[in-house]
Amino acid sequence: MAEELLLNSSLSKSEQYKTLIPQIKALIQGEVDLTANLANITAALKQTFGWFWVGFYIVKTDELVLGPFQGTIACTRIRYDKGVCGTAWARKESLLVPNVEEFPGHIACSSLSVSEIVIPIYDQRGEVLAVLDVDSDMFDVLDETDIEFLEKIGQVVSEIWN
Ligand code: SME
Repeated sequence: MAEELLLNSSLSKSEQYKTLIPQIKALIQGEVDLTANLANITAALKQTFGWFWVGFYIVKTDELVLGPFQGTIACTRIRYDKGVCGTAWARKESLLVPNVEEFPGHIACSSLSVSEIVIPIYDQRGEVLAVLDVDSDMFDVLDETDIEFLEKIGQVVSEIWN
């Protein structure tokens, strides 16, 4: 696996993702342990974009349970259809929340988080295995470009799920 990420913060956001995604694939190639791979994916995203929080919540029966993440301590369990994460799971769609105050039922794990993206990770039948949650402590940082590329990363995660 690669020992360090090549980062270039002067690139556009989409160029940064285009540089990052092959590195993520290289990072997880040859490693079968899902927890190790999810942990490294969150670290790679955190190192690249410096978000306040990024991590996975994993579907376990009727709720989401906190998985590998980078950032401050977080809520451990989120119920189906609750918060942004549980809503993305229930609706089976990616959600961009520019201002969490305007999302009814948003779960504030940290008062510093002001905007958020949640991407569902699907199995081959289209059922949700997990969600990838990104939180920013700044407005106007997360946008449709993040959705587009985080969904590509979600596809990579689907392929290694075991
Ligand atoms: N804000 C999320 C909860 C998870 S934390 O932000 C890490 C939500 O409303 O689902």
